[in-house]
Amino acid sequence: MPHTPRTLTIRQPDDWHLHLRDGAVLQAVVGDSARQFGRAIIMPNLKPPVTTTAQAAEYRERILAAVASLDEAGAAGFQPLMTLYLTDHTPPDEIQRARESGFVHGVKLYPAGATTHSDAGVTDLLGRCGGVLEAMQRHGMPLLVHGEVTDPEVDLFDREAVFIERVMVPLREAYPELKVVFEHLTTRDGVQYVSEAPGPIAATITAHHLLYNRNALFKGGLRPHWYCLPVLKRETHRRALLEAATGDSPRFFLGTDSAPHPRGAKEQDCGCAGCYTARHAMALYATAFEGAGRLDRLEAFASLNGPAFYGLPVNTATLTLEHVDTDIPHELPMGDDVVVPLAAGESLPWRLQG
Ligand code: NCD
Ligand code: ZN
Repeated sequence: MPHTPRTLTIRQPDDWHLHLRDGAVLQAVVGDSARQFGRAIIMPNLKPPVTTTAQAAEYRERILAAVASLDEAGAAGFQPLMTLYLTDHTPPDEIQRARESGFVHGVKLYPAGATTHSDAGVTDLLGRCGGVLEAMQRHGMPLLVHGEVTDPEVDLFDREAVFIERVMVPLREAYPELKVVFEHLTTRDGVQYVSEAPGPIAATITAHHLLYNRNALFKGGLRPHWYCLPVLKRETHRRALLEAATGDSPRFFLGTDSAPHPRGAKEQDCGCAGCYTARHAMALYATAFEGAGRLDRLEAFASLNGPAFYGLPVNTATLTLEHVDTDIPHELPMGDDVVVPLAAGESLPWRLQG
């Protein structure tokens, strides 16, 4: 008799933090997300960035066209939830346009210089963006925060903790009703803050920050494909993140931060930040939750908590994973180039059914 693999079926998940890029890269990567997720919050850090509702509308059309051209039944329903890139010069009335569009679901704060394509980001949030923040609070438009300071005096591994004290706390004191998502949380300090803070706050957590600590960056040599921002932290932080993701608080939900870069852009003297995890996203998360003995919590984290925070319905479809060992390829085609997925050459105990 053939052996039937153990399976796990959950309501279809969403990815609340995703980089799809544009053009040939978009075309190459979008299927990896659309096969698993019902919706995704699409990051606006293109070159040039998506700063207006009109640009977001055009980008959304390009994503929908790329999905349609896949001609895959399992991917066809994928909905991109668009975001705007906040700058020092975003006019407050852009928020009303964004809200009225129905397809813009957040505004992304990149502190200038904090990460990939953040040079057009904000230099002084409370000093420069007061009118926009006030409009966002009034319209119930979430602020999605890359929570790291860029002060060169601050140790790279402390950037998130210092951001909480210097930016997050004053921001939320000034705008207590503003909905805030602390994106790709990486520290115990962040978990504690998000768990306890008053008002509407939540956080996304990536699969790689649940599965790996910073040793992965240096295992046997320097490993550029494990480098992302915020950077992987020490084991105590990984454990705190895993406890939060698998715990009872609805404030923590799935955001892959899958960020494709061509192989050559990462393997060089100054390699880009960003890990490509979209292809194996749900298998990676299931591996992390199984490791914590909490597979029963995966559905809340992946499929229920995010829609509740964003005020959207949960998906009606389901997704099934199979407990079958699966090798992660050494590279994946990406337009004229290739991308090296996270944990390339390693094996995962889960895969998508079908
Ligand atoms: C992201 C990218 O490549 O766009 N990189 C990353 O390391 N996560 C940007 C970001 O989300 O910080
Ligand atoms: Zn990101």
